[in-house]
Amino acid sequence: MSMRVNGAGTGTDTRVRPGVEGDLAELTRIYNHYVVETPVTFDTEPFTVERRRPWLTSHPDHGPHRLLVAEQGGAVLGYATSSAFRPKQAYSTSVETSVYLAPEQTGRGVGSLLYASLFKALEHEDVRQVLAGVTLPNEASQRLHLSFGFQPVGVFRDVGRKFGAYWDVAWFQRPL
Ligand SMILES: CC(C)(COP(=O)(O)OP(=O)(O)OC[C@H]1O[C@@H](n2cnc3c(N)ncnc32)[C@H](O)[C@@H]1OP(=O)(O)O)[C@@H](O)C(=O)NCCC(=O)NCCS
Repeated sequence: MSMRVNGAGTGTDTRVRPGVEGDLAELTRIYNHYVVETPVTFDTEPFTVERRRPWLTSHPDHGPHRLLVAEQGGAVLGYATSSAFRPKQAYSTSVETSVYLAPEQTGRGVGSLLYASLFKALEHEDVRQVLAGVTLPNEASQRLHLSFGFQPVGVFRDVGRKFGAYWDVAWFQRPL
């Protein structure tokens, strides 16, 4: 699957495609920024590329668990995933989505482009519900989820400890 949209950011074509092995170093670098600098993810130790590989291979280019990458002029701008929500079998029709952009690429529509592409890719998969957890505060992510039709379903208080503080996570849900 590949989707081209002219208009995210500079006007040059931004292409969305499945993530591949050749993206792994850059995707790890992008994620590690949020691991080390922010509470948006509850991983606390940066990944080596090698340790991040199982994450890549658990998101093939078919099925309910996808990895899509936004690319412009050969540069990776960010990525979105749909992943297993919880491991028990009856949860298999629920996926958890997330999206991370290189920090300098935020606020110009790339996150929305990735989510639009991801939901299109999942259209014919056996997925009924999409869930997403957002560490608070994160206005951009909350607005992104609301604009894609997610409903807020509640806030888990103080469920993560990072940087010596406890963090709330707002959960969102939408049918596919
Ligand atoms: C969250 C993120 C994926 C959103 O993608 P984005 O490309 O920046 O967002 P878009 O430009 O597509 O805009 C989506 C919505 O967020 C809003 N938004 C974007 N940046 C914002 C900011 N800095 N502050 C407040 N709102 C913001 C937009 O106005 C838009 O809302 P609207 O539809 O109500 O107008 C991106 O900012 C990001 O990667 N942030 C860091 C990592 C992260 O927090 N990931 C999510 C983990 S749950």
